[in-house]
Amino acid sequence: MNNSIVYLNGEFMPIDEAKVSVLDRGFLFGDGVYEVIPVYGKQIFRLDEHLDRLANSLAAVRIPNPCSESAWKKNLSQIVKKHDVQDQSIYVQVSRGVAPRDHVFPDKITPTVFMMSNPLQVTDLNTFNKGVKAITLDDIRWQYCNIKAITLLPNILLKQTAKDEGALEAILVRDGEVTEGSASNIFIVIDGIIKTPPKSSRLLPGITRDLIVELATKNNINCIESNFSRTELSAADEIWLTSSTKEVLPIVQLNDEVIADGKPGPISRNMYEIFQAYKTEIKQHKD
Ligand code: PDD
Repeated sequence: MNNSIVYLNGEFMPIDEAKVSVLDRGFLFGDGVYEVIPVYGKQIFRLDEHLDRLANSLAAVRIPNPCSESAWKKNLSQIVKKHDVQDQSIYVQVSRGVAPRDHVFPDKITPTVFMMSNPLQVTDLNTFNKGVKAITLDDIRWQYCNIKAITLLPNILLKQTAKDEGALEAILVRDGEVTEGSASNIFIVIDGIIKTPPKSSRLLPGITRDLIVELATKNNINCIESNFSRTELSAADEIWLTSSTKEVLPIVQLNDEVIADGKPGPISRNMYEIFQAYKTEIKQHKD
């Protein structure tokens, strides 16, 4: 029995009581969008940025935004309050809604809104120190990777292939250029310069990615948003992934190649520490 409180269509209820119709277009077509929002010390992290990205995803798939900004904020803060854990991961999903199965949008339809909270499990220092293995794969996804769509079958297949090969993430390559991970953004360091691909329809505009770029710039660490090739990836001195749950996660093995000396490099460590300091600051600024 799981009694974790979730939000479904305007109501809070135990997860076991939350039910969605089998005609929901999220279930039938994967017709919906989502967000994963970290909460540190009960403070919702980069809330405005997450709500902006959600609004952009909804607009891109032509689902009317079901809540005003203040309603989102109110509901999100309530779901956080209803869970005792200090650090949480809030999952928010909006599907187009329930209707008889037909590819075209029904005339009148109410979006299904679902939110749940899980304990946030981020990269701990031990995992950071060891680093992880990644493999490279062809980016088989569609052409709107900037939309945080729930339709994740390609990402799932890519990540599973990585797991089958003993790796934690699949790094995706499209037309010879690196885009991102199956569920993360990517950074490399070459000759002391940090590089991450610029935002485009080929990758998700990660909230953690943006923060790392912002923090690097603030700390006078050379960081550029520029595409790089699969060859440059292999030649990188350091590689790391970012996401709400991975935070900063170094790659020390790429396919069969060892990156640098097989240990997280100094710039990865610096960015990890700057990120942790930023989080600590947020936790201390509780109102
Ligand atoms: N995924 N790119 C992809 C394809 C992602 O799925 C994610 C996050 C990111 C990183 O975005 P952010 O920094 O905003 O978490 C990049 C989430 C965590 C998920 O699907 O569970």
